[in-house]
Amino acid sequence: MKNVLVLGGTGFVGAHVCEKLVRAGWHITVPTRRWVNARPVLHLPTVRVVEMDVHDEAALAQALAGHTAVVNLIAILHGTQAAFERVHVDLPQKLGRACQAAGVRQLVHVSALGANAENTQSSPSMYLRSKGQGEVVLTMAATGQPGFDLTLLRPSVIFGADDKFLNLFAKLQKVFPVMPLAGADTRFQPVWVQDVAAAVVRSLQGGLSPSPRVIELCGPDVFTLKELVQLSAQLAGVRMGRGRPVLPLPPWLGRVQARLLELAPGDPLMSRDNLASMQIDNVASGQLLGLASLGITPSALTAIAQGYLAPQK
Ligand SMILES: NC(=O)c1ccc[n+]([C@@H]2O[C@H](COP(=O)([O-])OP(=O)(O)OC[C@H]3O[C@@H](n4cnc5c(N)ncnc54)[C@H](OP(=O)(O)O)[C@@H]3O)[C@@H](O)[C@H]2O)c1
Repeated sequence: MKNVLVLGGTGFVGAHVCEKLVRAGWHITVPTRRWVNARPVLHLPTVRVVEMDVHDEAALAQALAGHTAVVNLIAILHGTQAAFERVHVDLPQKLGRACQAAGVRQLVHVSALGANAENTQSSPSMYLRSKGQGEVVLTMAATGQPGFDLTLLRPSVIFGADDKFLNLFAKLQKVFPVMPLAGADTRFQPVWVQDVAAAVVRSLQGGLSPSPRVIELCGPDVFTLKELVQLSAQLAGVRMGRGRPVLPLPPWLGRVQARLLELAPGDPLMSRDNLASMQIDNVASGQLLGLASLGITPSALTAIAQGYLAPQK
């Protein structure tokens, strides 16, 4: 029987990964911090949810027992340096050791486009530096275990019906008269959540290039952030598709805006670290494998986003 542990299986990407894995005949265990967070996958057959602390290495090794593979989708977007290191570096390190202890030989780790495992310190944000370090510790763990199969997936920003990206831009423009926008010229290559989920499932099926392999997951089209904001309004029919005026902010004012947003309660819409990530474009390097290496043709954003942003008739 094919058994896989999916860390972060309750999240935006994770729920789609679980759906596809179920269809592909996998039996899945999904750890969660809180049972209630697992609602997106509770209805799926062959999915078992367990409430546990994945940062407890012994518990992690115990949870891995009896599984042939593991997928790691756990990440945070905001936090302190210590929080990024705990989730993006320490957890993968524990996971590498726990795989060895439990005899799990296959790992798919979802990193992020812009992570640089060759020179982690060159990345402009804590998020990207820690993502790069996470890749380094897993690569070291895999190298120390002959026959271990490691796939590192690096998606650009991910869109889909339940995204917090195009949906958010559209929602903000329904409320506010103008869009003050930091990082307006940063380029992205958005990838569909279904293509990311398919890449995870395909990575588990074997027969790929030698391990460890790094694969960039990008859509077919490149957009600036400003273009994505405008497109979201157009597709959502804000002001008859004209959207709101977008006011690109200079870097210093962007940092002030991000600082103010960090002070608001809950998860910030944008943090100074998010802004730092946007100092580099989020597009395929062209130096690494892409979705095509997994036999997946990336889907274009506009037609799909229209399907979920367009006003309900
Ligand atoms: N979304 C994007 O646009 C995007 C772009 C590039 C890369 N990625 C990468 O893709 C992966 C999946 O992203 P996503 O958007 O699906 O993330 P998500 O919706 O935020 O889900 C992350 C999951 O991780 C778990 N989690 C969060 N913080 C945790 C912590 N401190 N300790 C333990 N578990 C924690 C949560 O599970 P519970 O609440 O059930 O415990 C949650 O379901 C991540 O590696 C992310 O960096 C995403």
